Amino acid sequence: MPADTSAPKPAYSPGLEGVIAGETAISAVDPNAGLIYRGYDIKDLAPKANFEEVVWLLLHGELPTNAQYEETRKTLAQESALPDPVVNMLRLMPRDANPNDTLRTGVSMLASFDKELNDHSHDANVRKSIRLIAKTSTLLTTGWRIQKGEKPFNPGSNPTHVGRFLFSLFGREPEQWETSAFNNIFAQYAEHGYNASTFAARVTASTMSDIYAAVTSAIGTLKGPLHGGANEEAMKMLTDVGTPDRAEAWVKDRLVRKEKIMGFGHRVYKKGDSRVPVMRDLARIISKQFKQPQLVEVCEALEAAMEKQKGLYANVDLYAAPVFHLMKIPTELNTPIFACSRMAGWCAHVIEQHDKNRIIRPSCNYTGPGRRAYRPMR
Ligand code: COA
Repeated sequence: MPADTSAPKPAYSPGLEGVIAGETAISAVDPNAGLIYRGYDIKDLAPKANFEEVVWLLLHGELPTNAQYEETRKTLAQESALPDPVVNMLRLMPRDANPNDTLRTGVSMLASFDKELNDHSHDANVRKSIRLIAKTSTLLTTGWRIQKGEKPFNPGSNPTHVGRFLFSLFGREPEQWETSAFNNIFAQYAEHGYNASTFAARVTASTMSDIYAAVTSAIGTLKGPLHGGANEEAMKMLTDVGTPDRAEAWVKDRLVRKEKIMGFGHRVYKKGDSRVPVMRDLARIISKQFKQPQLVEVCEALEAAMEKQKGLYANVDLYAAPVFHLMKIPTELNTPIFACSRMAGWCAHVIEQHDKNRIIRPSCNYTGPGRRAYRPMR
């Protein structure tokens, strides 16, 4: 039915705050009840589930049976290799390229090697999702090794996706606690409703463009410091603050200058991000294990100062910073690792969008000059 142009316009909401822009059965982000994936609370899922389980759950709607789990595990391993021209492209990237940009370029290039690129059916999209999830991690670790002038590692035979990721990054078999920690991180970062990058993916998919185009838009959107880029900025902040006793003055100074403090605030959660207790626990466990409590103590002091001075709470990116740092992850990889994990959520959303599509095309209020006659200035 054509839109009724005489109907009153809905109120403008800057940043689309509070606007219901679509429907999803994948996850719910509730300011009070927290985050659920297909009904499962992230607090239960993240510390216990393997990334393979989360991938199946997000793509299919239910937890996998043993056979489905095994199928996911095997296909992720089989699909992890990159086409040779894509590896050659990685060699052409400047040595100082931002790994987010390398990843975005690589994912975009992968599109042309997928024979099912223009098949937007549900089943083809699921198959392409597994390829994308598998290859994104390889792209990141391979691109990083090449950028450092090193030979990429063969991902080895570790049975888990995150185990192979860690092997490809460090060239050694990860310890059990490391794979558990990474399964936890990958689960927490995998999905989060209509956040900016997922929305970007859905907008692209809604034109019936392909899944690679959609997730390429998403990676570009994630990079910004107000979104995924915050976990890198948070690490820089922790280094700058240095010790817990400096946190309060540091926060005051930034707030006076009206600067944003990374790892704090959220569009939906106004009383705290439901992923923070999970990531904070992980950070505390790892810092105890390494007997290096300082970074976590700085986070805690910043949390107290922000709550006192601005009534703002931490988001997941604050505590992701010490976790990555203590696990010897180079800070430049914090955000692209987030992308490797969120690829599962982005793909689930693209499938959902294609399955029941209507082009996403909002309106805007025009603020330019009124109608006027054309008189050439030349
Ligand atoms: N540091 C300082 N002040 C902050 C802040 C932060 N991290 N986050 C929000 N605020 C302040 C705003 O300046 C504004 O203050 P004012 O009312 O005095 O002008 C108020 O809180 C409302 O913030 P607003 O920018 O409208 O919130 P938003 O919903 O548009 O933005 C974020 C949400 C996440 C983009 C924002 O909180 C932010 O930039 N955080 C830092 C980046 C980050 O950690 N991103 C990861 C999100 S998971």
